[in-house]
Amino acid sequence: MSVHQDALTVVAALDGETVTSDDYTATNEPIRLAYIVAGCDDPAAVVRDLLPRLVYRGLIYGEAHSLAAVLRHLAPTIGRSGDHWVYSHPWRKEDHERLQADHPELVIDPVTRLEIINELAPVYSDYVANVSVFDMAMSLETAVFLLHLCRATQPASVADYGSGFSSWVFRHYAANNDCVVHSFDDDPEWLAKSVRFCARNGQDTDGFNVWRLGVELPAVDVTFHDIGGGELRNELMAPVMASAARFAVVDDCQATKHRDRFYELIEAQELQGYALLQTHDHIQRFAMLGAR
Ligand SMILES: C[S@@+](CC[C@H](N)C(=O)[O-])C[C@H]1O[C@@H](n2cnc3c(N)ncnc32)[C@H](O)[C@@H]1O
Repeated sequence: MSVHQDALTVVAALDGETVTSDDYTATNEPIRLAYIVAGCDDPAAVVRDLLPRLVYRGLIYGEAHSLAAVLRHLAPTIGRSGDHWVYSHPWRKEDHERLQADHPELVIDPVTRLEIINELAPVYSDYVANVSVFDMAMSLETAVFLLHLCRATQPASVADYGSGFSSWVFRHYAANNDCVVHSFDDDPEWLAKSVRFCARNGQDTDGFNVWRLGVELPAVDVTFHDIGGGELRNELMAPVMASAARFAVVDDCQATKHRDRFYELIEAQELQGYALLQTHDHIQRFAMLGAR
């Protein structure tokens, strides 16, 4: 399916009778639309086709003839997109409020968020179209958070476990900042794909390593945990979190078994833990943050 058709399918879903205002997917579709539009070959054509429907759905309003204008119009909606997620799950609302109080620099304002979406979208579109798939790849929302986290906290070293788009995001940050990046994967073929993807999209290919049992993890400021599935993911969570001197971002915490493990570990490692509203994506995934 072309990106253009994909965008039209999303809008068709928005027009469907089953989508209601408190449907999570509907409330987050603007984010997906924003990056589909930003990442496609012919944004003008998509915007032309989408415009009447977006206006009809109340997602944008007034005159919007350019991609920049459409994205600007989407910004307030994106800013509100997490409300249902937060308010229908009180513990998540509490986490978000604690994050705002403890680390206000990590709460991304809607316009900055949109700018980062726009910055990452073309490369993310390439990644999900040609390397991975939407539901295996980290979400664009989590990628936006990782880049913002780096810009806000200026880590000297970072590591991602489960290479891929996260490896590119960290290198994209390190390209203009003094930061050492390590990327690990347990699958050598996947690691090689990640290296090729980074090279093809203009990033450094140093620092990629195969993860094996017994490998000592580098001590870094920030880790991103997104490696393997099931038990392996839970087993590796402990060393990956322990090797982060400042922040550990743990993906896929919508899964109760991973979230429960995360809670055990923040207690054992004396970290503060937060469910990250800002990483909630269109298929209900989200990451959690451990902070020292
Ligand atoms: C969720 S993925 C890692 C994603 C990565 N952090 C990213 O930014 O996209 C977890 C593991 O699944 C494997 N994997 C990733 N994408 C895959 C795909 N499209 N098909 C098969 N395996 C994949 C890799 O070995 C990877 O470490």
